[in-house]
Amino acid sequence: MFGEGPGDAAVMLVGEQPGVEEELSGRPFVGPAGRLLDRALAEVGLDRSEVYLTNAVKHFRFELRGKRRIHKTPGQQHVEACLPWLLAEIAEVHPAVLVCLGATAARALLGPEVRVGRVRGDFLASDLAPGVLVTVHPGSVLRVPDEAGRRLAYAAFVADLGRVVERLRGLVESA
Ligand code: URA
Repeated sequence: MFGEGPGDAAVMLVGEQPGVEEELSGRPFVGPAGRLLDRALAEVGLDRSEVYLTNAVKHFRFELRGKRRIHKTPGQQHVEACLPWLLAEIAEVHPAVLVCLGATAARALLGPEVRVGRVRGDFLASDLAPGVLVTVHPGSVLRVPDEAGRRLAYAAFVADLGRVVERLRGLVESA
């Protein structure tokens, strides 16, 4: 499953892999994590329709529990097999800012040693795009068990996305 968004988007966001709802609809980030992402983007003044959304792994990896398909984290071999497609999308869209949503995307694009908790919210040097930022996966915000913790995790996620908007503004002003 490929990404979605304008071919000349200034921002590209890379998630992990499609889930059940994404696979059924053929569109990235349309399930619960996608709805949270849409809300967070709107809070920083970005509309989903103006960013390019894609995934590090292009298929839904799952295990069957009865009739239910349960998400399974992709392995290194799945990430590596899909990397040429992801790099082709980045080369085509050529975003000013590339955002890695979570560890799978961050490690696929920046190397296995990347730790989201250590680098989140910072712009990192990379040849992939003028600005590369790592933040958490929106699904991780949903998985925080308590309401207060979830609110904090969401606010931190929005703050990271806010840095993306600041960077875009800076690029426009210096152009
Ligand atoms: N999670 C992802 O990483 N990607 C999607 O497209 C949906 C949920």
